[in-house]
Amino acid sequence: PEQVSFFEAVGGEETFRRIVGRFYAEVATDDVLRPLYPEEDLGPAEERLTLFLMQYWGGPHTYSEQRGHPRLRMRHQPFPIGPIERDAWLRCMRIAVDDAGLDKAYRDQLWQYLEMAANSLMNAWA
Ligand code: HEM
Repeated sequence: PEQVSFFEAVGGEETFRRIVGRFYAEVATDDVLRPLYPEEDLGPAEERLTLFLMQYWGGPHTYSEQRGHPRLRMRHQPFPIGPIERDAWLRCMRIAVDDAGLDKAYRDQLWQYLEMAANSLMNAWA
């Protein structure tokens, strides 16, 4: 049988757009996270995270065509991310992931990655 990527198995681009759209709707009203975003319009940030996650999970490589190598730790250096910011990010993402209606095995796999990634991007502990 043909190998199906995680990206395809969970519904492709539409699923990633739905999750990240829901995530940024939460960010927009989050007192911890909203002040970190330099741009008034969250749309471009939403697009970057959507394309990154699509690429990570085996979808098209549009993110790297537009942005180059992800270098996520470097790109997050300007923003102080301690436990409070990490927890806020994961709280918004949890709502978005739970809302997407994925099968439990896929949801768990996605969540495990997002928790690991959020922990790995912490760069401030004060
Ligand atoms: C960009 C915050 C975790 C992926 C950003 C930006 C902020 C931010 C303020 C700049 C917005 C923009 O212009 O794109 C945070 C905080 C996190 C967090 C507070 C808490 C731990 C993550 C995680 C991932 C991620 C876990 C991936 C799984 C990205 C990507 C970009 C980005 C792909 C755009 C990079 C670029 O191409 O410039 N993040 N982030 N972030 N973040 Fe995060």
